[in-house]
Amino acid sequence: TRIAILFGGRSAEHDVSRASAANVLRSLDPDRYDATAIGITREGRWIVAGAGNGAGTGSGALAIPNDGPQLALLPGGQGRALVLDGHTTVRDLPAFDVVFPVLHGPNGEDGTVQGALELSDVAYVGSRVMGSAAAMDKDVAKRLMRDAGLPIVPYVAMSAMAPIAYDDAVAAVGSPELFVKPANMGSSVGVSKARTAGEFDTCCKLAFRFDSKILIERSLAPIREVECSVLEDATGLIRASQLGEIVPSDKHGFYSYDAKYLDADGALLRVPADVPPALADRIRELAIKTFRVLGCEGMARIDFFLHGEQAFVNEANTLPGFTDISMYPRLWEATGLPQSELMDILIGHALE
Ligand code: DAL
Ligand code: MG
Repeated sequence: TRIAILFGGRSAEHDVSRASAANVLRSLDPDRYDATAIGITREGRWIVAGAGNGAGTGSGALAIPNDGPQLALLPGGQGRALVLDGHTTVRDLPAFDVVFPVLHGPNGEDGTVQGALELSDVAYVGSRVMGSAAAMDKDVAKRLMRDAGLPIVPYVAMSAMAPIAYDDAVAAVGSPELFVKPANMGSSVGVSKARTAGEFDTCCKLAFRFDSKILIERSLAPIREVECSVLEDATGLIRASQLGEIVPSDKHGFYSYDAKYLDADGALLRVPADVPPALADRIRELAIKTFRVLGCEGMARIDFFLHGEQAFVNEANTLPGFTDISMYPRLWEATGLPQSELMDILIGHALE
């Protein structure tokens, strides 16, 4: 099977994607997959970053060469790509059977790349356009979840055009402590916590640097963060993994970008999570229901908040982190599915 790994991308999660892609490449069985890594630069150019399953070996993140051949997917080309050689010559690249977009955040996880792959008529791993877009926009996702009766934490959405005062936000979500986050972003980029009107102002400015719509959410205390991996196979069977828990260290306070990727002791991942069996089963059910409600396909990691015995769905990640410390593959390992078999199921679903 000829597989193209798309990675990098134009979002603020570019570096996370490079680490995820290295790990995905490493876990593809070289006897079964002929892999080509295609890096998307921060400017959005698609560059051939290397062929061969060994490309990810030995380094933490996959690099994108500055001057490698630039690629363009051919609309209707069934996975054929054009190599743009300078400005004049164009060559055909053999078709890929399947594309694995290992991209996080806007312009990769949000349905845009999925739309391009639809146009080029090639199979790809994960959710299609609608599921990707619905899950990426946290405001849209929460409305769909609320409509389906899924438990969510009270929030309001705010656009730069219609600002909401701190007091009104507090009244709307029912607590003076608020989380402020960009509507379309991942890895906690741009997320911060406000306890006063002054802090609220600063937090909103930060979040608006990443998006024109932001979310203001009630901060629950005490709170635990629990995650569940969902996987759909080629027959349409959807299953949920064991749960994992994120235990952020005291210095970070919540599972921030720094705690996730920059600080080796930033957080502890506890697998399996220490959750009573009946509650764990209920969370797994909620994870599968969320997957269906948002129209996800193939895979998603569903993130929860636990407040005592009360579980709230936080969000769905249709292209969850695949770094070597990431929860999605780790939860499957803990459930008895090694990462190379996980890849086979994801690719099998894409090719179905
Ligand atoms: N957005 C990051 C990659 C995650 O959900 O794991
Ligand atoms: Mg996310």
